[in-house]
Amino acid sequence: MNFKSILAMVRTPHLAVQGQLRNDLQAYVRVNFLYAAFEAGLLAALKTPLTLSELVSQLQPKQPELLESLLRVGVMLGEVAQENERYSLRGNRSRALVADDGDAIAAFVQEYVSYHGSVYRHLPERLQTGELGNYLQGTGNLIARSSRLLESFVAVFVQEVIRAAQPKRMLEIGCGSGVYLHYAVQASPLLTGIAIDMQADVIEQTKRNLQQWGVDNRFELMVANVLNPPANIAGPFDLVTLYNNIYYFPVAERVPLFKKIRAWLKPGGAFALVTLMRGNNVDSANFDLILQSTQGCYALPTLDELTAQLRESGFSVDMQAQLVPMELYYGVLGKLV
Ligand SMILES: C[S@@+](CC[C@H](N)C(=O)[O-])C[C@H]1O[C@@H](n2cnc3c(N)ncnc32)[C@H](O)[C@@H]1O
Repeated sequence: MNFKSILAMVRTPHLAVQGQLRNDLQAYVRVNFLYAAFEAGLLAALKTPLTLSELVSQLQPKQPELLESLLRVGVMLGEVAQENERYSLRGNRSRALVADDGDAIAAFVQEYVSYHGSVYRHLPERLQTGELGNYLQGTGNLIARSSRLLESFVAVFVQEVIRAAQPKRMLEIGCGSGVYLHYAVQASPLLTGIAIDMQADVIEQTKRNLQQWGVDNRFELMVANVLNPPANIAGPFDLVTLYNNIYYFPVAERVPLFKKIRAWLKPGGAFALVTLMRGNNVDSANFDLILQSTQGCYALPTLDELTAQLRESGFSVDMQAQLVPMELYYGVLGKLV
């Protein structure tokens, strides 16, 4: 570098910020590489070391040079190794995405790049038009897969709830895959109940899962919207659960919903919720933005707001547990006063 180049560099506006941004963008490029290489089947193919021509015959790209260019990015990031003409997986992230137990982490990357990325790209026009994104359509399976990252933390809370509430009969609202019904019956072998979800295809999946786990005889499954429930879920129940779906209800509808749940409970009955809370944390602020950009979703509650709404609805707050270290992900247990 000669003297003139050094002078040009010193005169470059925001030189330090450019350095910071280049550093940030390395992480951005890595996440995008992982997304593209996973979706294109490249990571799965590279579980076995392959030459470029072997990769081309396996993945059949229309433009082999584009694949080679993607591989070069992977090599530069340290995600892909290139040794003796063969490419293989090197980085721990790329290996994890295609490991036998890596599906949730792959879905996490897919969710950020496809769903969150779209939210940020469209945000300026949304602020002008007020039109939200139709993201619930078609992302159900992706969200179900990525939520499994939190499964073991919620499972601990489900077991605590069962110990505290000793339920014989429960209602789960928005049951999704049914995974927490499985944990509930494992913790309480005689437990029975009803599980509802407003999406018919979700209930079909719940049914298959419960059959696979051998607990389908414990729960009656219904396609139902809790805001307009059929008469046969009138209760009474010892426990009602609402895991990872408070943000499907507008803030003003939460107290009326909690009062409806209260009416379904037996005296001394319990109401358990799990949700990410709004607060001073980047993940929480990001998720709140994603929700508020999505048709049919609403703001995250703060812990104070949620517990105040529970009290207003006639519950005492018996437990509020931070489920994931450093994250504002909470389990809250209300008891009928
Ligand atoms: C994010 S998923 C959570 C699923 C499950 N509880 C879990 O934690 O894995 C939310 C689920 O709630 C369902 N849901 C949302 N609003 C609902 C309503 N008003 N009545 C019934 N189900 C609802 C959705 O269809 C979706 O399957």
